Amino acid sequence: MPQENRRVRHLSTKMAQANGAIDRQTGGLVPAIQPSTTFARDEQYALYNEDHIYARDDNDLVRLGEQMLADAEQAEDALIFPTGMAAIAALFRTAPNGATIIIQSQIYWGTTKWVREFAARRDIKLIELDASDAILLDSTIAHKRPYLVFVETPSNPWLRVTDIAKASRACKAAGAILAVDSTAATPVLSNPLTLGADIVMHSATKAINGHSDVLAGVLATKDQDSAVWQAIKTDRHDAGAVIGSFEAWLLIRGMRTLPLRMERMSENAQAIAQHLNAHPKVAEVLYPGLESHAQHQLAKAQMPGGFGSLLSFLVKGDGDDALTVCGALELFKRATSLGGVESLVEHRHSIEGPDTGIPTSLIRLSVGIEHIDDLKADLDAALDKIG
Ligand SMILES: Cc1ncc(COP(=O)(O)O)c(C=O)c1O
Repeated sequence: MPQENRRVRHLSTKMAQANGAIDRQTGGLVPAIQPSTTFARDEQYALYNEDHIYARDDNDLVRLGEQMLADAEQAEDALIFPTGMAAIAALFRTAPNGATIIIQSQIYWGTTKWVREFAARRDIKLIELDASDAILLDSTIAHKRPYLVFVETPSNPWLRVTDIAKASRACKAAGAILAVDSTAATPVLSNPLTLGADIVMHSATKAINGHSDVLAGVLATKDQDSAVWQAIKTDRHDAGAVIGSFEAWLLIRGMRTLPLRMERMSENAQAIAQHLNAHPKVAEVLYPGLESHAQHQLAKAQMPGGFGSLLSFLVKGDGDDALTVCGALELFKRATSLGGVESLVEHRHSIEGPDTGIPTSLIRLSVGIEHIDDLKADLDAALDKIG
């Protein structure tokens, strides 16, 4: 089990050492995988180990992963789910029938789609608005007094930045819960709980794991006694939304390098954003690290560690031009998802269709840890193929 060490002052140290966990049976620096789903009792019917009855609750690797994530988010408690969507669903399922919920518009399409269908089933009044507009968000919270406000910052794929501290003040005054999907920021670049959010959520499938080989989600809170957290915990237990030992082991291994990866990915993404911003075939770059970004100053304050790996740009031209560029890339792999060590490209309009307002000329990049010169050359060669 992890040891408290007063010499550990920085997240990168803590993460690299997996919170200091050492396997007590062997001294192994890497935690052992215990795949058993159930645990034996002795002849007197006493458990061999009080902490182990049944693996839905009792998995040391999941416990270690949750502790690492709680530490990273400066949270009191964290829960790991099988996917980001399972975490989001557990949060929204705490809402009473007929409640009012505000969600940010034009966020990850899977969230919007699921929440819309859920709200319709449960008679929930759903308000979708641009949460990066702090005045609009403030007045809607004050007027509608919702149960829950759910924002995604920076948002995928528009890279809009919501002012978490302001949103938190408005939520507190109205008695609403503020939840932040911080997937694109990761706990390395931003800590929404320290800015007043009640719950922070991540798709750990993305940069937290970082190697495109585990599905997982996270919720964390700074108030583990709150009614919403207790309801989420019960829901996760009773609905059984947990991961297995192998996934938890991979997730912990991925998290050991999270700070290092985010540093490199943010540096690469910043350099690519600047490069594309000056490119004659590019109409606009959406990246909070650019001074031209509408919320650049806010992003600087809210994301002191960097601006993340996600960026979008619009080519000069139409959807066919954007697809030509995507098709001509060799290093950026044409695949959905984000936050992995390998760079990815996505034409979101082809995925979302015409109803969500994504321009046909928009290309989304997830920038990995490759050498920056190779990534720039790949983009230049692909952009050369259009008008
Ligand atoms: C911002 C954001 N939130 C949530 C999710 C859902 O996560 P998962 O795919 O792990 O269910 C995604 C997935 O792309 C995402 O990008």
